[in-house]
Amino acid sequence: MEAAIRPRRLRMDNRTRELVRETRIGKTSLVYPIFVEEGKGIITEIEAMPGQKRYSPDTLAYGLEEAAKTGVTSIMFFGIPEHKDELGSQAYAENGIVQQALKAAKKDFPELYCIGDVCMCEYTSHGHCGIVKGDSVDNDKTLPYLAKTALSQVIAGADMVAPSDMMDGRVRAIREELDAAGYVDTPIMSYAAKYASAFYGPFREAAGSCNFKGNRKTYQMDFHNRKEAMKEVYLDLEEGADIIMIKPALSYLDIIREVSDRVAVPTAAYSVSGEYAMIKAAAKAGMVDEQAIIAETTVSIYRAGANILITYFAKEIAKMIDEGRIG
Ligand code: PBG
Repeated sequence: MEAAIRPRRLRMDNRTRELVRETRIGKTSLVYPIFVEEGKGIITEIEAMPGQKRYSPDTLAYGLEEAAKTGVTSIMFFGIPEHKDELGSQAYAENGIVQQALKAAKKDFPELYCIGDVCMCEYTSHGHCGIVKGDSVDNDKTLPYLAKTALSQVIAGADMVAPSDMMDGRVRAIREELDAAGYVDTPIMSYAAKYASAFYGPFREAAGSCNFKGNRKTYQMDFHNRKEAMKEVYLDLEEGADIIMIKPALSYLDIIREVSDRVAVPTAAYSVSGEYAMIKAAAKAGMVDEQAIIAETTVSIYRAGANILITYFAKEIAKMIDEGRIG
């Protein structure tokens, strides 16, 4: 065969392959989600998410230390309150569980970048992401509660807030609340295209937000839709979102690609609990090589265009970067 161009030339050895890689991953783009619940001395394995734990504020340092040790620099906080009520009052309480966690994290690990997940579903007795009226979530009534929640997290020390509720207009409401309190420089990472997904199943066990009636389809997006994702993204940008997130990640690589091609802000992807649990279960059953699957799926999300990855595998990925397996 006479060929001037032989693609195999650039695949002949590892050094060449590493040199010509198109997708590069750095630890500083990883975000590790952590669950904090009210109480003392708690370090509980989350059954549906093997390897993930729930901490109380006094044990949280162990979890943060483990992440920091691997070189993960950003943490996203989820709270599980002791008391839930109709209005989710612990979401915005000055000494709510996430607020306690943020204060403790900022004190013990000032170098960590702390992101607060802003939502009401972990805090409401009915389990929905907003204030319920009749059978549905009242969008406009919910906005001030989300804004209060975001502000209380920032006051407690959050470096960034990430609204995951999918109410219309919430980015603007949060931006106005933060600005009015003087936090003009605190960024908002919006869960802009968040789909109503069965991949959240394990999280709902982890966060104790699974026993709600009905579903979240009146606010989270229908997974048949692509253009609608762009509508949500453009709206959130108009309202002041600094970073756009797509969630889940693996079944939505097309959306990640489209968003990152079309908008001039960083694109984040959230590889959610079900994606994590499926890999863990398949590996445990001996069906796949866990490390190899983590590497391949992770790179696929970045290759699709993500600049930031929120993942329960953050610590493992950081170690794999150290070992030169990916990156
Ligand atoms: C809260 C929220 C959810 C997740 C992140 N924030 C659950 C939901 O919308 O039901 C899911 C995260 C995961 O599955 O890992 N609204």
